[in-house]
Amino acid sequence: MKEIEQRKTNKHIGHYFEGTDANWYIGRNLTDEEREVFRQRSIASHQAKIKALNGDGPPPIHKINVPKLNPEDLMPKLKQNHLKVLSLFSGGGGLDLGFDHAGFQHYESYEIMRDAAVTIVQNRPKWNVFYGEDGNVRNKNWKLLKDKIDVIHGGPPCQPFSLAGYQRGSEDDRDLFPEFIRAILEIKPKAFVAENVKALTNKKFETYLNQRIISPLSQDYKIFMFELSAASFGVPQKRDRVFLVGLRKDKISKKFVIPKSTHDFSHLLSNKNHQNPQQLSLFDELISDDSLLKCMGVREALGLPNIGYDALSPTIRSGLTGPRHTTSILSSVSAQKQWEKLEIWPNGVAKDRLSANQFVTKNGHFRLSVQDCGIMQGFPKSWVFNGAVYMILGQIGNSVAPPMAYHVAKELLNALI
Ligand SMILES: C[S@@+](CC[C@H](N)C(=O)[O-])C[C@H]1O[C@@H](n2cnc3c(N)ncnc32)[C@H](O)[C@@H]1O
Repeated sequence: MKEIEQRKTNKHIGHYFEGTDANWYIGRNLTDEEREVFRQRSIASHQAKIKALNGDGPPPIHKINVPKLNPEDLMPKLKQNHLKVLSLFSGGGGLDLGFDHAGFQHYESYEIMRDAAVTIVQNRPKWNVFYGEDGNVRNKNWKLLKDKIDVIHGGPPCQPFSLAGYQRGSEDDRDLFPEFIRAILEIKPKAFVAENVKALTNKKFETYLNQRIISPLSQDYKIFMFELSAASFGVPQKRDRVFLVGLRKDKISKKFVIPKSTHDFSHLLSNKNHQNPQQLSLFDELISDDSLLKCMGVREALGLPNIGYDALSPTIRSGLTGPRHTTSILSSVSAQKQWEKLEIWPNGVAKDRLSANQFVTKNGHFRLSVQDCGIMQGFPKSWVFNGAVYMILGQIGNSVAPPMAYHVAKELLNALI
C-alpha cells in the first residue's frame, strides 16, 4: 500500500507533463511550407484578435448568448451510493462527472496530463487525483487496491484506433488497453466500463478486440458491448461512442441493461451530415419517438436567435489532435458545410463569451467560446476547465459526454445494487 498511500493527496506535485509533452501525443509531420502557412495564418488571426479585444475591431454584431440548455438537467444527481470507483485516463473528467452524478464515489483518478487533472482537482477538491508520473497508469501496482474498488472506468486513448489517425492499433505504443485490462485483472472489481471511438469495432480491429480485450476478461466477466449516441441523452452534438461494460459473473445476479434513449433527435437530422460513411448506423436507423424528450439543436442549446435552421453540432474535434494544437473544433470538410448552415464559426474559439462577442468573425457567423463548447459536449456550466484554450478544447473533445456517461453509470448501479 506504500506507493499509493504516500500519494494520497491531489495536491502532490510530482514530475508532470506541461501541455501535451506527454508521449501519447503525436502531431502530424508538416512540410516547411505547410508550417509557414499555419504560422502566417495564426499571426494574422492573433493580431486581429488583439485589435478586436482592444476595441479597434468591427463592432459586435451578436448579443452575448445565454444558453438555453442546462446539462445539469440531463443528469439529475442521484444520492451517493457506497460503490467506490477507480478512474483511469480521467482527462478533463467527462466519465468521472457522469459517475459522480450517478452517486458513485471516486476513490482515485489517474491522468498523465497535468492541465486535465487540475480541471478535476479544481472542480472536486476532495478527490484523490494523480497526475504526471504519479498519474501514469503504466507500471502501477494495482494489486494494492484490491478489495478497495468496486468499479473501474476509463477511456484509454483512442488515437491508435481513430479514423482520424493511422489506426495502428496494438502496433501503436499509445495503445493503453493492455494497461486498462491489467488494472482489472489485478484489482478484480465488481464491474468495469471502458469507452472508446466506434472505429474500435471496425473489422480491422476484430481480432484485436476479441483476443486482446474480450478474451482475457471474459472468463471472469460477462461483457456487454454497445454503441450510444450522445444526442440520445439530450447532448446537441453528433457523437457516437462504443462502450464495453463488464460485470463479474460470480458476484452479479442482476443483469445489466443497455441505457435507453431519453431524447429523440430525428427532427435534427433532416439534412444528414455524415462525416464518415462508416459511422452511419446509429443515425440512419432513427425513427422519431414521441414518448421521448426532444433534443435541442445546437443553436437552441446555445441560446442563439432562430434563423429557421437548427441541427446537431458536428462532432467536436479535440484541440489536441491534428497537425498541431488548435483552437478549432472543426473535424471535417462536411462538418464545415454544416457549421456554415448553422451560421456558427468553428475556428478560433474564444476563451469566454465576452471575447467571442468582441472578436467579430469575417463572415459574421457566431463565434464560439470554450463555455459554449462545454455545453455542446454536455458539461454543466459549473464545471470549469483548466488550461489554455487549445488545452480545454482538447479535454472537451477527448471526453465522454457526461450525460451519456451518467446513463451508463446509472444502469450499472441498477445492476450492482
Ligand atoms: C480519451 S481521453 C479520456 C477522456 C476521459 N475519459 C473523459 O471522459 O474526459 C484519454 C486520456 O488518457 C490520458 N493518458 C494518456 N496516456 C496516459 C497514461 N500513460 N497514464 C494516464 N493517463 C494517460 C490522456 O492524457 C487523455 O487525457
